[in-house]
Amino acid sequence: MKGTIAICLQDLVKTKFGKDNWETILVKSGLPKDLAIYSHHDIGDDVIMKIVNNTCEVLSITLQQAADAFGEYWMTEYAPKKYFAFFTDKKTAKEFLLNMDKLHTKMTDKIENAKPPKFTYKEIDKNTIIMTYISSRNLEPIWIGLIKGVGKYFNENINIENLSENSVKITFD
Ligand code: HEM
Repeated sequence: MKGTIAICLQDLVKTKFGKDNWETILVKSGLPKDLAIYSHHDIGDDVIMKIVNNTCEVLSITLQQAADAFGEYWMTEYAPKKYFAFFTDKKTAKEFLLNMDKLHTKMTDKIENAKPPKFTYKEIDKNTIIMTYISSRNLEPIWIGLIKGVGKYFNENINIENLSENSVKITFD
């Protein structure tokens, strides 16, 4: 997976939980404590998952709590600065989520080895959509954490109801 995901996690852990905890997580994951991460470089999915699991262990939080913290940080701190162009024309959480399939395809089509997630949508009515997540990585908790983060960014209350393992009904206020 692209290094940008790990950089966001690194910034989140360092800012909210301190540099020492980040170094402990890296060392526990078999990595050097001063590991340099580059946005466009690939980091093995197994290495990312080791870092994520050790983040949960070191900070004593569940995977969903880590995914929610990641989703909120990605959507409210990291991505609006790093990928501001994607934030200019979408005015609501619904519009933003409906653009996620296109965004992931577009932003990774020129990056070698990128394997972006796919999303399909069904619009039920003005305030309700069904969103389905398709990826061999099966990172459902992170997907859900990011949906919650979209709600936080747009300051909207959104309700997420699980329909199946990779499909949710999202209701917007
Ligand atoms: C401006 C906002 C966003 C940008 C720029 C962005 C970009 C990216 C990039 C570059 C990757 C790595 C892809 C790879 O290595 O193959 C990724 C992964 C991912 N993104 Fe986003 N993303 C954004 C928002 C979101 C949102 C809002 C969601 C969910 C609703 C989402 C769901 C995911 C998931 C689940 C992955 C993990 C990869 C997988 O499951 O296969 N992203 N994203």
